[in-house]
Amino acid sequence: MRDETVILEKAISATDEPVGLGGPRSLHLSAHLPIPKYLSQTYWWAYLHPLGVRVFERQWLVNLILWGNFGRLRESVLRELDGTKPSQVLQIACVYGNLTDRIVDRLGRAGHLHVVDVAPVQLKNLTEKLSDASRVTLHHQDSTQLEFPDASFDQVVVFFLLHEQPEAARARTVAEAARVVKPGGKLIFVDYHRPRRLNPFRYIMQPILRTLEPFAMDLWQKEIEDLMPAAIPPLRVQKRTTFGGLYQKVVMTF
Ligand SMILES: C[S@@+](CC[C@H](N)C(=O)[O-])C[C@H]1O[C@@H](n2cnc3c(N)ncnc32)[C@H](O)[C@@H]1O
Repeated sequence: MRDETVILEKAISATDEPVGLGGPRSLHLSAHLPIPKYLSQTYWWAYLHPLGVRVFERQWLVNLILWGNFGRLRESVLRELDGTKPSQVLQIACVYGNLTDRIVDRLGRAGHLHVVDVAPVQLKNLTEKLSDASRVTLHHQDSTQLEFPDASFDQVVVFFLLHEQPEAARARTVAEAARVVKPGGKLIFVDYHRPRRLNPFRYIMQPILRTLEPFAMDLWQKEIEDLMPAAIPPLRVQKRTTFGGLYQKVVMTF
């Protein structure tokens, strides 16, 4: 089967390479990239069904899902990004809301953002909501098997992806994210975490996560750092939790 180039605007250039959206607005989709089982079985309604994308692509709704913490968590990512130097940043997986736009703002004119997602509908949705597409390149890839060479990016962001993945896929995503960070670069994870005992959300979130997000509770038990392959040890790991421990940011410097 041939790969497919989806035409998003009138200006078209058929290409085998992913292209910056500042040029012709085409998005290269691989016909050989399967949707992971966990996504099609557990999360189809949130990320794959076009109606799901229409419903969830609302800033107020993603903020509500995070109990009003979306802005705070987004800003905590932005603070980690160095906008003073030209940098190549990778965002692994699309995110509803304005995280991607805000990363682009933060990078300044010399920076460039690359976004990977395994779901074509998500990449198409992103092209439609970006304010400045000229500094963004989209890649139809699986986070567990990135196609970039080692040490390609100055900074890599993984925002609420790990909790959706079964353990093996999660470990591969972490290893791949670490592989593509340059020496001296940063890898930033934001995700769920086990809330403290006295935090009511510890009890509110358990039935919600167990019902809707069956792999998420793993992050209550295990440290993201423990998923790092021994061959790529970070020089420094900083972990910070917020909202009574329900969310964590883990920043690894290589
Ligand atoms: C980042 S997570 C969730 C983010 C957050 N909850 C939100 O509000 O959007 C959702 C995205 O991850 C993508 N995704 C899931 N598994 C993936 C994989 N193995 N490789 C690349 N993208 C993946 C989905 O297609 C979806 O766009």
